[in-house]
Amino acid sequence: MDFKEQIQKGIPTELPALKPYPAAANRAPKRKDILSIEEKQLAIRNALRYFPKQWHAELAKEFAQELKTFGRIYMYRFKPTYKIYARPIDAYPAKCKQAAAIMLMINNNLDNAVAQHPEELITYGGNGAVFQNWAQYLLTMQYLSMMTDEQTLHMYSGHPMGLFPSSKNAPRVVVTNGMMIPNYSTPNDWEKFNAMGVTQYGQMTAGSFMYIGPQGIVHGTTITVMNAFRKILPEGESPAGKIFLTAGLGGMSGAQPKAGNIAGCITICAEVNSKAATKRYEQGWVDVLIDNMDSLVLRVKEAKEKNEVVSIAFIGNIVDVWERFDVEDIFIHLGSDQTSLHIPWTGGYYPVDVSYEESNRLISEDPEAFKEKVQDSLRRHAAAINKHNSKGTYFFDYGNAFLLEASRAGADIMAENKIDFKYASYVQDILGPMCFDYGFGPFRWVCTSGNPADLDKTDEIAMDVLEKMAAQSPKEIQLQMQDNIIWIKDAKKNKLVVGSQARILYADAEGRFKIAAAFNKAVAAGEIGAIVIGRDHHDVSGTDSPYRETSNIYDGSKFTADMAIHNVIGDSFRGATWVSIHNGGGVGWGEVINGGFGMLLDGTEAAAERLKSMIFYDVNNGIARRSWARNEEALFAIKREMERTPSLKVTLPNLVDDNILKNLF
Ligand SMILES: NC(=O)c1ccc[n+]([C@@H]2O[C@H](COP(=O)([O-])OP(=O)(O)OC[C@H]3O[C@@H](n4cnc5c(N)ncnc54)[C@H](O)[C@@H]3O)[C@@H](O)[C@H]2O)c1
Repeated sequence: MDFKEQIQKGIPTELPALKPYPAAANRAPKRKDILSIEEKQLAIRNALRYFPKQWHAELAKEFAQELKTFGRIYMYRFKPTYKIYARPIDAYPAKCKQAAAIMLMINNNLDNAVAQHPEELITYGGNGAVFQNWAQYLLTMQYLSMMTDEQTLHMYSGHPMGLFPSSKNAPRVVVTNGMMIPNYSTPNDWEKFNAMGVTQYGQMTAGSFMYIGPQGIVHGTTITVMNAFRKILPEGESPAGKIFLTAGLGGMSGAQPKAGNIAGCITICAEVNSKAATKRYEQGWVDVLIDNMDSLVLRVKEAKEKNEVVSIAFIGNIVDVWERFDVEDIFIHLGSDQTSLHIPWTGGYYPVDVSYEESNRLISEDPEAFKEKVQDSLRRHAAAINKHNSKGTYFFDYGNAFLLEASRAGADIMAENKIDFKYASYVQDILGPMCFDYGFGPFRWVCTSGNPADLDKTDEIAMDVLEKMAAQSPKEIQLQMQDNIIWIKDAKKNKLVVGSQARILYADAEGRFKIAAAFNKAVAAGEIGAIVIGRDHHDVSGTDSPYRETSNIYDGSKFTADMAIHNVIGDSFRGATWVSIHNGGGVGWGEVINGGFGMLLDGTEAAAERLKSMIFYDVNNGIARRSWARNEEALFAIKREMERTPSLKVTLPNLVDDNILKNLF
């Protein structure tokens, strides 16, 4: 059977042969053994409902073994034998082009070159799943191949519930991931219900088929580091020779040295796992690899003296670096952290003074002891940062739950009011006021032809649109416009494409709309093939996350999730090709609700119409909410939008004088 026939077949009619696990694959860690015997039986019963009865006896044993050995049932046997990657859109069997575009995006998220644990259907973040098992993949692709443009596929955490009649204007796919009854949303609930096969952790762009490899995070980190330096340096002073100290060279964190180089500073990135550090060095994402502290100190002093722009990977624990640099009196301008503290007890954060191997042993054999070591380490970590901060270091939380977990460990990290943290998150100080409140966020696109020449053409179109807009933009958003013009000019040179032919840049509502409309025209004129547009969920409107995306909301509403829910509903009836809403994301299960969309631009008038109203709402929903929270920049942006768009009427806050409140209670 060829590729198309295999997709159309769905679950095969003959039991496929068992295959050995590919030696080169990066296997997902063994998950917690959390189910009771009855629950394990239920997990097997749940898994077997995808298959005909005559296979049950054989598969039951196999799935029980998978559950025992890996903590989950992935159904490895059913992984298709064809190579999974973003094929050109015409390679997919489909009755409607929108469905083919979605298949392409799913395949990109599961590409061996893109996904973190492709055999376990995990795209990134250790747990960011596209599907829970291979049966769900096979069925979903089959449904997409038979779908017309008057049907919608509803997906529950990777499980395709089915095709339902809808209309041409409805989304083709509606995705929910990890949506729980709120009282069942602790990390252990994820372990339990995911092991049972009834929910999954979709992260942000994993379960929504919108991941575009590492370039998204390189862009976001570059913008953050550049603006952090702007915050602390006198106007016009270069970051060259100034230190940015951080940790993690994993999936996302590996972007830090590359971003530091683009921003033009000295980046020092500690990484306990020598394999991860060496991989980033060999890929050219970091310039220098050092494995002992004395050499690191010497090399850093030299780089400072020479005002270098250089990135250094240090194989070792970040806590040791903070402490030693204090003893050596090495001044750190910027500090952050990107260890995986959204999963602190399962290997996201390695404690100081415990070897990497010993930590891994404790994780599986003595989790309580491991937890204590992590919390001790976090207290030391925070204490060392505090010492540097007292000398003038600017530390920011980069959305990895560092401050949250340090506070839970009892570290000296709380502000005097005992409510806020001592340090701001990157959204509070940088991305929130400088980007999100103005509507700037991670707009992205994928060329469905798979042709690099199409990507070049779209880069040119986007640059042209931004340059024309920048000539007319108010001073408040000039910096954002210029940063993104430079980014798109250099994007090809920076060789950021991994997987599908994709690009990211930050733009506001007007910019996103104008770029997308220009793409649609170019598709209609036959200059390029169809384009999928979308965005990261880490954006203006898509995500409610009190310790990250909405950490700069100060009216108390950051613990609500109305904005993300309105966004996904609003986008779905305004013409998105697919929409998704997730529990989870970067900060952790139960800590965030995030959503996104995908839209196919096929050059038609209908696509042009859909685009107009959907992008407008997708961005302005968040600006409206941010302005209601009294954020100054969002008030500016929404008033400007209302002047431009008379049919937009947003409720604006009346600001209260502090004196009125002083003696009330
Ligand atoms: N702000 C954002 O936009 C953003 C984006 C992506 C990811 N994140 C968050 O950043 C974190 C990292 O993401 P990732 O995909 O790189 O995860 P990852 O698990 O692939 O990488 C984290 C790395 O940190 C290393 N590490 C752990 N403890 C260490 C220690 N004490 N010292 C030195 N190294 C240590 C690990 O070995 C690992 O390689 C996550 O919590 C994620 O949610 C934030």
